[in-house]
Amino acid sequence: MNAEPARIEADALARIAAATTVDALRTVGQEVLGKRSELVGLRKQLGGLDEATRKAVGQALHATTQAIQAALVDRESGLEETERGARYETERLDLTEVVDPLPVGHLHIVTQTWQDLEDIFVGMGYGVAEGPEIETDWYNFEALNIPDSHPARSMWDTLWVDVGEPGSMLLRTHTSNVQIHVMQAQTPPIYMVAPGRTYRRDTTDATHLPVFHQIEGLVVDRGITMADLAGTIQAFTQAYFGQDFESRLRPSYFPFTEPSAEFDIRPPGGDWLELGGCGMVHPNVFRHVGIDPEEWTGFAFGFGIDRLAKVRYAVDDLREFVTSDVRFLEQF
Ligand code: DAH
Repeated sequence: MNAEPARIEADALARIAAATTVDALRTVGQEVLGKRSELVGLRKQLGGLDEATRKAVGQALHATTQAIQAALVDRESGLEETERGARYETERLDLTEVVDPLPVGHLHIVTQTWQDLEDIFVGMGYGVAEGPEIETDWYNFEALNIPDSHPARSMWDTLWVDVGEPGSMLLRTHTSNVQIHVMQAQTPPIYMVAPGRTYRRDTTDATHLPVFHQIEGLVVDRGITMADLAGTIQAFTQAYFGQDFESRLRPSYFPFTEPSAEFDIRPPGGDWLELGGCGMVHPNVFRHVGIDPEEWTGFAFGFGIDRLAKVRYAVDDLREFVTSDVRFLEQF
């Protein structure tokens, strides 16, 4: 009886050392320390022993239990470390690995077009401005000489925002609002373009998106004439499309310009294609921002960036720009 604890301990330690996984070790732990273990069985027999033997065997059993518990804890942390190491090895990513060819994405075709346009105008000495997409009625319409009752309001199918007084806040219907912000913030001479996102309550189809992009241009200086506008449009057309493209202005109407025109472009041997609107800044617009129309004159223009990309890259449906089909996007 006195030798039993030592035998149980040696046996348990051997089994613990032999366990090769954390799970297997837990099973061993149950078997050597649990209810049906030899250890517990022996403890139950202590009551039938004489006092001296009971004391000696009891102490030995206590020491054995502690030794087994310590061996279990020790072996478990060793096995955990081994298993973690093995898992790291299988899950390891080789960050120096070279995938050939490396799949690299690129800017969206509309973003590329936006940046190309900026580059062209910056090259002509223009600055780049930005304005808010959520706008007040005043900046989007009123200050641009489009009063509340003006029939020209129907040229822009407005998406109103439910903020403040009903009908006071909207998603800008064009980038022309930036003209007003820039003229409030800067004193002439002004040469700026403002590309940005615009919104209209339009039904989506091959040539319309409710969220689209425009680029606005504004020049305010002394002695600016319609000839400067026409020359600028022509210089832009050749820089963007190519030397052999032509441009023309056609009389039109916009409340914020007088006179107003639409501008068209034509590839060599091709048909005229309508691109955007332009004109000489209306004196009322200057008055709204405190610029003296007797001293300063200017021109403005605006056109759709998505439309332009559509023409330039011969895309037949504007919706392709927003469906995020990689097979389409990869082509540009
Ligand atoms: N804002 C006009 C539109 O969205 C386009 C436009 C026309 C802009 C004439 C201008 C301009 O700056 O002078 O339809």
